[in-house]
This record gives sequence, structure tokens and C-alpha cells, in this order.
Amino acid sequence: MAEERGVELECTLADGDRLVVAGDQDELLRVAENLVENAVKYGRTGGRVDVRAERVQTASGDEVVLSVRDYGPGIAAGHLPRLTERFYRVDVAESRDKGGTGLGLAIVKHIVNRHRGRLAVESRPGEGATFRVAVPALD
Ligand SMILES: Nc1ncnc2c1ncn2[C@@H]1O[C@H](COP(=O)(O)OP(=O)(O)O)[C@@H](O)[C@H]1O
Ligand SMILES: [Mg+2]
Repeated sequence: MAEERGVELECTLADGDRLVVAGDQDELLRVAENLVENAVKYGRTGGRVDVRAERVQTASGDEVVLSVRDYGPGIAAGHLPRLTERFYRVDVAESRDKGGTGLGLAIVKHIVNRHRGRLAVESRPGEGATFRVAVPALD
């Protein structure tokens, strides 16, 4: 999909980090798929997408963090809190045009919650968006 749209996909696994979590492999794969698909679809104009997995220490234990960053148009602050609502789309026509249903991020959030994780979105219009999923790490 990235290739078709002329988007360069860069994947980095933090060197030496143990990136193992307890969970449902298919569901976690769907999380990654949804986020990368969105980054490629909506951030296409940025020309590249960075996917990174790393282990991060927090006060409540280690987490494995997957971040998906694009360099597209980004998302205005007012939309961020609502992105994970079912059927919520910033631009309905664009989403429909690109074959979207507005369910992807709702599913991501549901799966992440089931894994006792967190989903965070950061974006500044014009500078792309970063979606970050953190799930408790296994030792
Ligand atoms: N990386 C992104 N850059 C800009 N907008 C995004 C990005 N990811 C998601 N969005 C916005 O969030 C909406 C909801 O995403 P999602 O739930 O995956 O639905 P869908 O992709 O089916 O439209 C999208 O319609 C789009 O407007
Ligand atoms: Mg989607």
C-alpha cells in the first residue's frame, strides 16, 4: 500500500530492547495495521512514515511503545479527543473516498484497552501526526 502511494515506510526496532508483550497476536497486528494504514492514507503527502518499537521505563513498569509517525497534514487539536469515537472522521468525504469507515481507531482503542495499554495522539496541523501505543512489557 505504501509503495502504491509512493510513501517510504521506515521501520525501526530499538536495538537491544526486549519487545515482548502478553496479548493476542492477531489483535495487536490489527492495531499496527490500522495505524500504519492511516498514516499512509492520510499522511501520504508527507512522503514517508516512520514506525518505531521501543521499550520505555515508566513508574509503573516497562512498556513496549509502538509509534507511527507521518508527515502529512496532521489533525487539528479540536478533533484529537474524538478520533477514537466510532464513525468519527475529520473529513467524511476524504475518508469515504479512501475506503474508510471511521471504525479503525475505535477498534485500536478497544484492543489497546483490552491489553491494559494506552493510546496517545499528538499532532500539529501541517506537521503530521504521531500515534503511540504503549502496552505493559514482559520481562
Ligand atoms: N495519520 C492521520 N493523519 C490525519 N488524519 C488522520 C490520521 N489517522 C486518522 N485520521 C483521521 O481520523 C479519522 C478516523 O480514523 P479511523 O478510525 O481509522 O477511520 P477511517 O480510516 O476508516 O476513516 C479518519 O477519517 C481521519 O480523518
Ligand atoms: Mg483507518
